[in-house]
This record gives sequence, C-alpha cells and structure tokens, in this order.
Amino acid sequence: MHSIFASWVVILGLLGACASRRAEARAFFVFGDSLVDNGNNDYLATTARADSYPYGIDYPTHRPTGRFSNGLNIPDIISEQLGSEPTLPYLSPQLTGQNLLVGANFASAGIGILNDTGIQFLNIIRIYKQLEYFEQYQTRVAALVGPEQTQRLVNQALVLITLGGNDFVNNYYLVPFSARSRQFSLPDYVVYIISEYRKVLARLYELGARRVLVTGTGPLGCVPAELAQHSRAGECSVELQRAASLFNPQLVQMINGLNSQLGSDVFVAANAYEMHMDFISDPQAYGFVTSKIACCGQGPYNGIGLCTIASNLCPNRDLYAFWDPFHPSERANRIIAQQILTGSNKYMNPMNLSTILALDSRT
Ligand SMILES: *[C@@H]1O[C@H](CO)[C@@H](O)[C@H](O)[C@H]1NC(C)=O
Ligand SMILES: *[C@@H]1O[C@H](CO)[C@@H](O)[C@H](O)[C@H]1NC(C)=O
Repeated sequence: MHSIFASWVVILGLLGACASRRAEARAFFVFGDSLVDNGNNDYLATTARADSYPYGIDYPTHRPTGRFSNGLNIPDIISEQLGSEPTLPYLSPQLTGQNLLVGANFASAGIGILNDTGIQFLNIIRIYKQLEYFEQYQTRVAALVGPEQTQRLVNQALVLITLGGNDFVNNYYLVPFSARSRQFSLPDYVVYIISEYRKVLARLYELGARRVLVTGTGPLGCVPAELAQHSRAGECSVELQRAASLFNPQLVQMINGLNSQLGSDVFVAANAYEMHMDFISDPQAYGFVTSKIACCGQGPYNGIGLCTIASNLCPNRDLYAFWDPFHPSERANRIIAQQILTGSNKYMNPMNLSTILALDSRT
C-alpha cells in the first residue's frame, strides 16, 4: 500500500517536472487587482500603492516592488511553477524585447469588475484598459516575432485573473448608503457584477486566451481590516461573508456556462474562499500564530489604515496569515498557490493547474 502510494507520488512528481520543463516557453498573463499586481501602480498617480518600506521586506531584493506582499505574491509563485521569471508589470520600462515573450502583468491595485469600483484611488488601470493593453502587447510582440507566432504564444499561454473583492470592499460597502447599495440589493448586485464579469472573460477569450485561471473572492469578512471595523470578538463580518458566499458559487456557474458554450474548459475556477478558510479556521495547523492580526498595520488586529514605515511590524512574517489589513503573507500565498497547483475539486474546477500543465504539454 505504502509503496504504491510512494511510486504514485514519484510519477506525479515526474509529471510535474516534465510539465514545467515543457512549459518553459509558455507565456503567463495576469489581470486583476492588488492581489496580483506586480507593480503597475508604481508608475501611476494613485494612492493604491505598495512601493515603500516595509512592502517587499522578504522579497529576494528586500526592497518594495509594488507587490502587496512582504515577499512574493500568487502570480510570482505560479511563475516559479512554470519555470519562468516573474511577470513584469506592463508599465515597466524593462518590458521590451525578449522579456515580452515571458508574458506580462496588467493588474492594477484598487480595480474591480465595474468601472466605478476604486474611483477613490484616481488613476488606476481599470479592467477594460488592462484588456486594451493586452491587445497593444500583442501588436508589440507581433512586430518582434510575427503575427502567427504571437497568436500561438497567446493561445498557449496561461492566464490568471483575480477580480471581485474590490467591487464589494471599495464600492458597494465603501461607505454606508453607497450609490451601488442604494441602486441594488446585495443579491441583485451580485447578479449584476457576475453578468459584467462574463463580458470581461468573453473579451479575454476573443483576445486569444485559452487557459484562464479565475479566482473567486476570499473570505472578505475575515480580513484584519474588516475585523477591525466590524468584529467585537474576532468573528468575521457577516455582511461581507454573505457577499462572498453569494458571489463565489455564481462565478463558478457562470464559468461552467461559458465553458459549455465554448465547448472547451478554457476557464478554470479557483476557490480562493476555501483555500483561505483552511488556514483562517485553523491557523496553528498551518504554522501561523494568528489569522486575525495583520503583521503590518495599526489599531485592533493591526487592521486600521495602511501598512507604512510607522506601522507595527511583526518580526517573523511566516507566522502571520495576513501581511497587511487586506493581503495574505507570502507564506499564505504559497499555501494558496499549492492548492491551485494540486488541489482537489473542492478547490479547483474543473481541474487543477498540474492537470492543465500535463494536458497542455501533450498537445
Ligand atoms: C466600462 O468601460 C468600458 C470601456 O471604457 C466600456 O466599454 C464598458 O461598457 C463600461 N462598462 C459599463 C458597465 O459601463
Ligand atoms: C489534481 O487534480 C486531479 C484531478 O482532479 C487529481 O486527481 C489530482 O490528485 C490533483 N492533484 C495532482 C497533484 O494532480
């Protein structure tokens, strides 16, 4: 029994190794918000930025990069799995020549599905602008390697898109009686943003994406920022949890509908909610001392305001599930990325990333 299991593990390991070697040339494109922004906002006049200490304190360079993490974020860890360099922000001056062939990161902190999400952050790259940049990227690559090879590169690429959290936190629930909350009940708002998200994904397909990881929202009500505002005894905010529990299943349904319409498993849902809940409900089992208190911040749960040089800062980031009031630590990101790679159907639908890599390396 034991040895059968062991050889199965070896086979899976070999599969994984082959897949990542084969995928060395596979490009990676990233769209979405601060959970996946590799530094685009560094180049913009916006308050949604992570380009000063202590952001990046555990990054290989120990310097801030614009990532909303103490170190690596989820796209970086996926790049690692693909055997690639991290995706450069689309606005980075280094994104030229051969670097373009690695892929690109179009994400921008503060944005959402809706154009009016994150307006308080002023100059950010809304999702339709990110898609426009993706088109522009393809024109630039075509000038380098020709249109056919560009199309192949895009069709064979892996894509990650992370959207939705800000449509609640930085729109519907931004202020009491927000415009959207006066316009829609929560269930109607969710139906609306899902229908808008469907258009975004359909456009991504039109632009050539053929393997797209789509993450749902995490447990929005359990992040230190929400605990600080709504929690008396450390319990998650009921209202934001309700938002996540309405949004996530409808996202999966929408994705299933798109896939069956396309006749192909183009879109793959990652259940970020369940991935987070594992270490939020039992942080000690994952080696964290807490999942409620952010490593960097101030006030209750270190959940008030921004993470800055003046904030409380924990000495060992690996012991904290949350780096700042909204964003997971690198260690939590690694746990999430591992589930994306090898998780069961509880986490990944219709399949995990190792299955995708194995499937696509055969074609
Ligand atoms: C958001 O903006 C884009 C482009 O600026 C536009 O095409 C789209 O219709 C807008 N969405 C909504 C719901 O207004
Ligand atoms: C990935 O998904 C497949 C299919 O659901 C599952 O059999 C496998 O255990 C998962 N993990 C790995 C490492 O492939």
